[in-house]
Amino acid sequence: MGEIDPAFIQTPENRPKLCIIEEEGIPVIDLSPLFCSSSSITDPSFEDLVRKIGSACREWGFFQVINHGAPVERRKKMEAEARKFFHQRKEQKNEVRRDDVHVIGYFDSELTRNVRDWKEVFDYTVEEPTLVPASPDPHDHQITHWYNKWPQYPPHLRETLKEYSEKMEELALKLMELIALSLGLAPKRFHGFFKDQTSWMKLNFYPPCPSPHLALGCGPHKDSGALTVLAQDDVSGLEVKRKSDGQWVRVKPRPNAYIINVGAVIQVWSNETYESVEHRVMLNTEKERISYPFFLTPAHYTMVEPLEELVNDQNPAKYKSYNWGKFFVTRKRSNFVNLNVHNIQV
Ligand code: SIN
Ligand code: FE2
Repeated sequence: MGEIDPAFIQTPENRPKLCIIEEEGIPVIDLSPLFCSSSSITDPSFEDLVRKIGSACREWGFFQVINHGAPVERRKKMEAEARKFFHQRKEQKNEVRRDDVHVIGYFDSELTRNVRDWKEVFDYTVEEPTLVPASPDPHDHQITHWYNKWPQYPPHLRETLKEYSEKMEELALKLMELIALSLGLAPKRFHGFFKDQTSWMKLNFYPPCPSPHLALGCGPHKDSGALTVLAQDDVSGLEVKRKSDGQWVRVKPRPNAYIINVGAVIQVWSNETYESVEHRVMLNTEKERISYPFFLTPAHYTMVEPLEELVNDQNPAKYKSYNWGKFFVTRKRSNFVNLNVHNIQV
């Protein structure tokens, strides 16, 4: 095992054990009923699917979907383009580096809970240019610069990301319908929140690491958006903290499956019926790994709060209302470490 920069070294309690056995672990849900039936999603024939989604959200906060309708060619193209981008020389990637003005782009020094992740990223925002200031508060102004600088190479990265993220948005919104039904809500209950969405994507590249027993590709964290739709290549690394016993469970790559997880926004909307669950990324000495999550997130002006239908005298609101745009900008500026949904608990 080689030496690495101390900035990457995890605190002893977060250092990964390398003997973890790969398990199927998180539930695998077949979405084919959505595409094989002409009946409405509220039809009793979907009850079984809705029940499976509900128990996966409650028990794991994570699941995989298969037969999800998203085209495999777009995914392959996305992965190939991401690989081409990251395989360039550092100087080439630095041309589209994030800076104080362009807060998204290429980046290789992301921190999770103050420890540097062993990874490189390229962010992409779905709506471009994204947002107008949410309020006169100067903190909100930087939001206007959330647009990409595009690299010369690979030449089709922009359109590939656009085409790919459109399909991810469709899938994420369909899953939100199933999640709404599983909470006893109307299927389109959440859709209005995404009309002026701030959804974004991340291309993650994890180079091989000489010290996978000390560093992590991404430190333990919980996702802050509504729903994450993640694709990984065929190298495993993602681990999810099992709610039942706190053990880290490796998510085995399944060709063409997507990994779905509930983010903090659903945690708040559902008044904690579902929770955003901790996960992390392990490294290895030999193989690089690529993953590319799509984060479904609401409009910047959304006030996120427990839905009134899910709050009553027996189950009072567990969270105060918060402005999504402000929360997200603050979180991004502070390198995703200082603020989390627990800071806004009632
Ligand atoms: C993440 O949770 O940010 C990345 C997950 C992965 O690479 O599998
Ligand atoms: Fe994550």
